[in-house]
Amino acid sequence: MTEDQEEISVDGVLQTPKGVHDILPDDHEYHTFIKKVVRHRLRQAGFRRITTPIFEFTELFQRGIGSDTDIVQKEMYIFQDRKGRSLTLKPEGTAGVCRAYIQNGMMNLPQPVQLYYIEPHFRYDRPQKGRYRQFWQFGFEIIGESDPALDAQIIYLANLINKDLGIANLFSIQLNSIGTPESRKEYIRVLTDFYFDKERSLCEQCKIRLKTNPLRLLDCKEESCRILANLAPKITDYLDAESKEFHEDLKEYLTELEIKFVENPSLVRGLDYYTKTVFEFWDKTDGAQNAIGGGGRYDGLIELLGGPKTPSVGYAAGIERIIANMKREKIRVPHKDVIHIFVAQLGKEAKKKCLSIIANLREAGVKTMGALGKDSIKTQLRLADKFGAPYTIIVGLTEVREEVVIIRDMKVGTQKTVPMKDVVKEVIRLIGKENLDTYSPGELLYG
Ligand code: HAM
Repeated sequence: MTEDQEEISVDGVLQTPKGVHDILPDDHEYHTFIKKVVRHRLRQAGFRRITTPIFEFTELFQRGIGSDTDIVQKEMYIFQDRKGRSLTLKPEGTAGVCRAYIQNGMMNLPQPVQLYYIEPHFRYDRPQKGRYRQFWQFGFEIIGESDPALDAQIIYLANLINKDLGIANLFSIQLNSIGTPESRKEYIRVLTDFYFDKERSLCEQCKIRLKTNPLRLLDCKEESCRILANLAPKITDYLDAESKEFHEDLKEYLTELEIKFVENPSLVRGLDYYTKTVFEFWDKTDGAQNAIGGGGRYDGLIELLGGPKTPSVGYAAGIERIIANMKREKIRVPHKDVIHIFVAQLGKEAKKKCLSIIANLREAGVKTMGALGKDSIKTQLRLADKFGAPYTIIVGLTEVREEVVIIRDMKVGTQKTVPMKDVVKEVIRLIGKENLDTYSPGELLYG
C-alpha cells in the first residue's frame, strides 16, 4: 500500500484529506455564535458583507500577496481547469475583495467602502494544532481612505469582537509600521548589509529569504535567526517622515480608545501588500505561534491589481483558533439546538395523528422531535431522554380513539392526559411562551 493510499482510507473507511475537517454540530454552535458577534459588530460600524469566489486566477494571488512569500511559494492549492488556465483556491481574502472592488466599479460608491467576509480559505501548510489546510476566517476591510483613525478603528473592532467572544485577555496586540515601499527600500539595503557576513548562522529557509524577501528574516521562529533578528537594525529607525507621523497618530488614537498594544519592530507579516501599519493578536503565552488574527494597511494593493490608487486597511482572524481558545477558556456558547418536546407513538393510526400534532407544535414555535420510524414505546422514551427533551407526548391506539394525548414530564416521571385539540396550548403553557422559537424569516417577506 502506498503512503497516499494509507491517507485516503483507514481500515477501508474513506477519510478526509490531511489538514481538513468536518464541522460537526457541536462546533457549529461556536461557528454560529462567532458569526453572530462578527455580523453584529460590523453592521453596527456600517460594514456590508461580500463573498468572493472560492477560486480565482492564480495571478491574482501571485501579484497581490507577492511571488516571494511563503504562501505563494509553497502553500497554494493550484490547479488547471479543462482549458489549461491556472486557478488557485483562495489562501486569504484581501486580494479577492480588492479584485471585486475594482471589477465591480466600487470606486464609484461613496468612499470608504467597508466590507466583511466569513469564508473558508486554503493553504497547503504542514497540518498541526491550529494550522489546517482548509480553515475559516472572518475579515473586514476599509477601502478608499488613508487616515490612521481608520487603522485604529480596525484594531478597535478586532479587539471588541475578541472581547465579545470572551478571549480578548488572552492576546496582546503587536504593532509595527513597515513604512512606504520607498522607505522600505533603504531599510532592506541596510538589513541585507547587516546579514552579509552572518549567512552561515541562518536557517536554510532564511538563507533563501535573504535573497528573495529579506524582511521575513525578522519574524523567523528558529532560535538562531531570532537572536540575529533582535540585533538587526530596526525598521522604525528608517521610516520616512510621513510614515512616522502616521504611526505616531495611530498610537495616539489607540491610547485614546484605551487599547493596549506592544510595539514590535520585528513584526513584518507574511504578505507583501502591507504598507505602514501592521499588527497581530498574539497569544500571551505562545507568542506568534498561534496568532489569532492579523492585518494592516495596504495602500498599494488595488493599484497593483489594475485599479486606481486606493489606500486601504483591514484585518482577518482564524475561526478554528478562536474556537480552540474559547474552549480553552471553557466558554460555552448560548445555542438554540435544544428540543422542547418528543412525540412518541404506537401503531399506524397513532403515527398518522402524530404527523399533524408535530406539524402544529412546530408551527407554534415548539421545537419538536419524533422518532416516527421506531416501534416500541420504551425505545422511544429512551430516545427522548437521550435528546434531553423535558416532555414527551405519547399517543397510542386508545388515545387516538378517545382523542386525547398523554404528556409525560421526563424529569419527574409523572403523566397527564390532555384532549388532543388542546395539545398545542398545553405544551406552550408547560415550556413557557418566552421559550418558543417563533423566528420565521420567510414571514418578513410578507410583512
Ligand atoms: P493572515 O495573518 O495570513 O492574514 O491570516 C489571518 C489569520 O488566519 C491568522 O492569524 C490565523 O488565525 C488564521 N490562519 C491563517 N492560516 C491558517 C491555517 N493554516 N490554519 C488555521 N488558521 C489559519 C491574512 O490572511 C490577511 N488577509 C489579513 C488582512 C486582511 N490584512 C488586511 N486585511
